[in-house]
Amino acid sequence: MPQIYDMLQKDHETVRTALDRLIASGNGAKKTREDLFDKVKTELEIHTKFEEEVFYPTFRADKKDKEAKEEVKDALGEHKDAKQMLAKLEKMDKTSDEFIEMVKELKASLEHHIHDEEDEMFPQAREAVSDEESEEMAKKYADMKKKAH
Ligand SMILES: [Fe+2]
Ligand SMILES: [Fe+2]
Repeated sequence: MPQIYDMLQKDHETVRTALDRLIASGNGAKKTREDLFDKVKTELEIHTKFEEEVFYPTFRADKKDKEAKEEVKDALGEHKDAKQMLAKLEKMDKTSDEFIEMVKELKASLEHHIHDEEDEMFPQAREAVSDEESEEMAKKYADMKKKAH
């Protein structure tokens, strides 16, 4: 069983790669852009749902200090921003420059968020959350993913 942190990190990489491919695509590549956008949206939906419902609450419960609370609060705000951007992108003309400009904005915002998670939250969680809990989360997430796909 992979560790939950590895699973989440793998998602980050998947989303990052899809966003890079989107940004590199030409305005004429409508179908490619639609497919890549759907991939980003689906990945982020399940990823943020799991983090919000399982990972963050576990992290916050085990780390009762104010810092952990603040980190989760920031992370939730960043998820909300990403979801708003995804909703806007969904309605946009995928062949437009505006679409790619906003994808770039989403990418920059997510890079910041991913950095906070991977370099601050995950190392703290590795310390605070027991191996059993981490394993249980990994199982839960694998189940969630199976059901979603
Ligand atoms: Fe994440
Ligand atoms: Fe997140």
